[in-house]
Amino acid sequence: MKLVSMPFQAIVGLVTLAAVGMLPAQGTEGRSRENFDNDWRFARFGLQADGSRLPESADAAAENQAEPGQTSSPAAPAFDDAVWRKLDVPHDWGIEGPFHKDLAAPTGKLPWKGIGWYRKAFTLPAADAGKRIFVDFDGAMAYAQVWCNGHYVGGWPYGYASFRLDLTPHLKFGQTNLLAVRLDTEKWDARWYPGAGIYRHVWLVKTAPVHVGHWGVSVTTPEVTAAAATVKLAVTVDNPGDAATTASVVTEIYELDAKGLPNKKVAVSEAVVADIAAGANATVARQVVVTQPKLWNLTTPNRHLARTSVSVSGKVVDVCDTPFGIRSIQFTARDGFLLNGKRVEIRGTCNHHDLGALGAAINNRALERQLEILKAMGCNALRTSHNPPAPELLDLADRMGFLVWDEAFDCWIWGKMVNDYNQLWDGWHVKDLQALVRRDRNHPSVIIWSIGNEVVEQTKVDLTKHLADVVRAEDPARPVSNGYNNPDGGRDSGAAKQLDLMGINYGFGSQERFDKDPRYKDMPTVGSETSSCVSTRGEYFFGKNRDHWQVSSYDCDFPPWGCTPDTQFATLERLPHVLGEFVWTGFDYLGEPTPYDAAKGAPPRSSYFGIIDLAGFPKDRYYNYQAHWRPDLPMVHIFPHWNWPERVGQVTPVHVYTSGGEAELFLNGTSLGRLTKQPKHDYRLVWKDVKYAPGELKVVAYKDGKPWASETIKTTGPAAGLQLAPDRATVTADGLDLSFVTVRIADKDGLTVPRSNNSVDFKIEGPGEVVAVDNGDPTSFEPFQASRRRAFNGLALVVVRAKRGQAGTLTLKATSDGLEPASIKIKSCASPPPCNAASPSTGLN
Ligand code: GAL
Repeated sequence: MKLVSMPFQAIVGLVTLAAVGMLPAQGTEGRSRENFDNDWRFARFGLQADGSRLPESADAAAENQAEPGQTSSPAAPAFDDAVWRKLDVPHDWGIEGPFHKDLAAPTGKLPWKGIGWYRKAFTLPAADAGKRIFVDFDGAMAYAQVWCNGHYVGGWPYGYASFRLDLTPHLKFGQTNLLAVRLDTEKWDARWYPGAGIYRHVWLVKTAPVHVGHWGVSVTTPEVTAAAATVKLAVTVDNPGDAATTASVVTEIYELDAKGLPNKKVAVSEAVVADIAAGANATVARQVVVTQPKLWNLTTPNRHLARTSVSVSGKVVDVCDTPFGIRSIQFTARDGFLLNGKRVEIRGTCNHHDLGALGAAINNRALERQLEILKAMGCNALRTSHNPPAPELLDLADRMGFLVWDEAFDCWIWGKMVNDYNQLWDGWHVKDLQALVRRDRNHPSVIIWSIGNEVVEQTKVDLTKHLADVVRAEDPARPVSNGYNNPDGGRDSGAAKQLDLMGINYGFGSQERFDKDPRYKDMPTVGSETSSCVSTRGEYFFGKNRDHWQVSSYDCDFPPWGCTPDTQFATLERLPHVLGEFVWTGFDYLGEPTPYDAAKGAPPRSSYFGIIDLAGFPKDRYYNYQAHWRPDLPMVHIFPHWNWPERVGQVTPVHVYTSGGEAELFLNGTSLGRLTKQPKHDYRLVWKDVKYAPGELKVVAYKDGKPWASETIKTTGPAAGLQLAPDRATVTADGLDLSFVTVRIADKDGLTVPRSNNSVDFKIEGPGEVVAVDNGDPTSFEPFQASRRRAFNGLALVVVRAKRGQAGTLTLKATSDGLEPASIKIKSCASPPPCNAASPSTGLN
């Protein structure tokens, strides 16, 4: 490979074209990226949802070419799939259920184990002949094998990894082609619900023969000031043909507007000419300066676009867009984490990838809603525990202003389960780690790479170094960390020395000692996992934490390694140099129902760890975090509810979370006293001797002696009617966009009845459908894919989708025996243009 730098003037013609916005121009062989989600056929083999088995044909998984005319294997084009289910992906066959009490609690008691086949027939225009055609899977669970027109083209076993396959040699242009995908989750074990199927998006990417390679652009911003930023670009260009070529590569930098569209051009790189041998690639590196850059930060997450053009013989053959952000990140042992030179305390949550009742199947709006709920709490960071996330998570984090701890693995050579990542380690760990970093390295939100979580080998120096080196070779611009549940062991052995950042799960006991240790005194530390408090929304037990498979929402229960949020706040105030924390977890998730996960055959099937329940309803803890993380937001929250007819005259403690410093509580107009928080000691106010009497409980919070916020809760009457509240009254009719409708059981005055559990039926009139229902109860075996749901402690959720291409108005009706029904209208508008649409992934290369 030879790199030749060309003077700027020599490519002035090209740059001029770019300057007037003519790239990509009509007539160039620019790339396209088509969504490939729709119109698949699906069938399930192996383990079935009812526990029976349906064998595959003997030759089904053979990784070779199907013989012409062969019809036995679904990989063969002639196989008849007419009776298979028609569906669109993303698809998760496990979430379809049903729950079964004897299935594993840690993975949600759902029948996700099985073998899934997907087949898709598609036609390519004759004009595509000569292009390179790739299929990109954002993630397929698990052990993906892919055939094109009967030829085995490859696969990727780790179900969380994104991967690309080159279909070009096997395609027929101007004709119908057949893609077949086999997935096998029987070979996979997990500590949480992994999902099953093509559960993320699929894309068909077409490029010219000479093109920017897969994830072939790296953008870093090593020097950033208000006056100017240096943008470093490295672009890898592939030449898969059998003749050497010479390509010229130029990159323009644009500001992106709020819709993610390029507007102002702010810099153009020098063009670099590269000679690329046949079947080889070349990487060209340049840097440009952007003056007075609009920086990416958490409140104004400005983004930029690097538009890279590749030309051969003076003709533009490829244009590849890479969104990125200009920001500086610094991790210090004494002053915490600095974003653009200013300290930002990490107020993060860990989350697994499921979307509650929607399962693992990615949905942009569902994820966006989760992030909106977290943001309103004051959460500013996300840990992708314990695996590569869907690309959409990072797009949303970039757009909405979150920091991300991006994690690769939950185990290395020693599995935590029998069929854990340990089975893939030898052949795949380098490829998986490279795939993660290459895919995600241009996201401004990503600030930390994590090579693991509580791995058995966390004290091993060589292994830690090996993995950190793999990451650094792909991206030297971010620190590498690891989540330690034995931080002392990891530091004493020297393994932690191989990292840039110490990640501590729970154990801060020796922090002060290591802060003085010459090996670690300059190493920044973050709470990579904290608290693990458990609770059930709306459940309160007196004198005990647990009852009938639920956990009290007084927020005092946690496993032996955990603590209350309050204790963790105090730890971080005692250790102010620690960067902050990632709480376990933001949302409840399917599986791991600690403290009941070992109880065989018991109903719990989803976690109690969430600050927010599985349906997306905040638990009381939400307001503890909000009070602490958003001290400037006037707020106060009282709990428990005030419907205790069986407790009249009995002591019923009242707790209050507030961003104020003191508060006065009134029961039926009588003051029960004013309490003051002791700074760095109290994070809630507790009136522990309140004797229950029905009526009205009111709290008035004060800050600096002045009234700050107040809340009143009342004893309600019996359930009388239903209320429906959509999170959005308008959705896009693209078959993807969702409205999350909260269902309340209300008394005659419209107050939510806190202990009600009425069953509610849903019906839609007009161009929409109910996608899922939930109520946040971790013990419920009611199906998620249904049009009926029991309320849980006064609330239920119904998720509504407008049908693709059918604009109009849909009516959601809710009925329940003995209650006044409710109905609402949701508008579905044509797509495009989106009205308030969830936006698709923008990771274009
Ligand atoms: C941690 C682990 C998490 C989750 C959590 C529950 O030790 O890293 O994956 O299991 O415990 O408290």
